[in-house]
Amino acid sequence: MSYIEMDSVYKRYRTGTITIPAADGVTFNIEQGEICMIVGPSGSGKSTVLNLLGGMDFCDDGKIRVAGELINDFNERRMTEFRRYDVGFVFQFYNLVQNLTALENVELATQITNKSLDPVRVLERVGLSDRINNFPAQMSGGEQQRVSIARALAKNPKVLLCDEPTGALDYATGKSILKLLAETAAETGMTVVIVTHNQAITPMADRVITMRSGRVQRITVNDAPVSADSIEW
Ligand SMILES: Nc1ncnc2c1ncn2[C@@H]1O[C@H](COP(=O)(O)OP(=O)(O)OP(=O)(O)O)[C@@H](O)[C@H]1O
Ligand SMILES: [Mg+2]
Repeated sequence: MSYIEMDSVYKRYRTGTITIPAADGVTFNIEQGEICMIVGPSGSGKSTVLNLLGGMDFCDDGKIRVAGELINDFNERRMTEFRRYDVGFVFQFYNLVQNLTALENVELATQITNKSLDPVRVLERVGLSDRINNFPAQMSGGEQQRVSIARALAKNPKVLLCDEPTGALDYATGKSILKLLAETAAETGMTVVIVTHNQAITPMADRVITMRSGRVQRITVNDAPVSADSIEW
């Protein structure tokens, strides 16, 4: 059994008379401690799959297992626990609390869990030690993105789900964040799933899942993933 298993998962969005099959029979496995990247064109269902894995949404059909548990059988209370303790989520559009500082945003996440890391240390690791008392509106997009990564990492989750985590970052900062994610996975056994548009970074991944029109088009397993340092894009 794999650490994460998606088995024939369907998610349909209905708007008026139109039904969009955002996930159209998605099946894949991810092993514990892997870095897995999900790639594919805009609208192919990448965020949908990530939201389902993180318990942010329920699927219409199929089975989703994380750490041996069938999460689509969870009731509301169990799902809340799962999101709180087991999952770290880096949102495509950050979702920071606007009236809290960088430090307070990270602290908010660590207060609800029990094995969290020191918020100041994690903010240092994403390169924001001199921004910890800034509010989101006083930070650049890339800085806000790094606060959102720090917030998810500080929970020390079993599964880290990142939707375009380097989309707003410059080349060097993006590289250092990818390195941090890879090091964290190697050191802690955290399983990291990264949605990205950037094909160039996929050689870093243990596994690459390519999506198209709500379906898995291809799964590639890298036997020898390379370090972030050796990638150029
Ligand atoms: N809440 C929703 N209601 C209706 N349709 C939705 C909803 N969320 C997603 N969709 C549709 O489902 C499809 C997949 O969306 P999804 O956000 O998963 O794509 P994506 O691969 O993450 O795209 P992007 O790279 O642009 O972020 C799209 O056609 C989208 O319009
Ligand atoms: Mg998306």
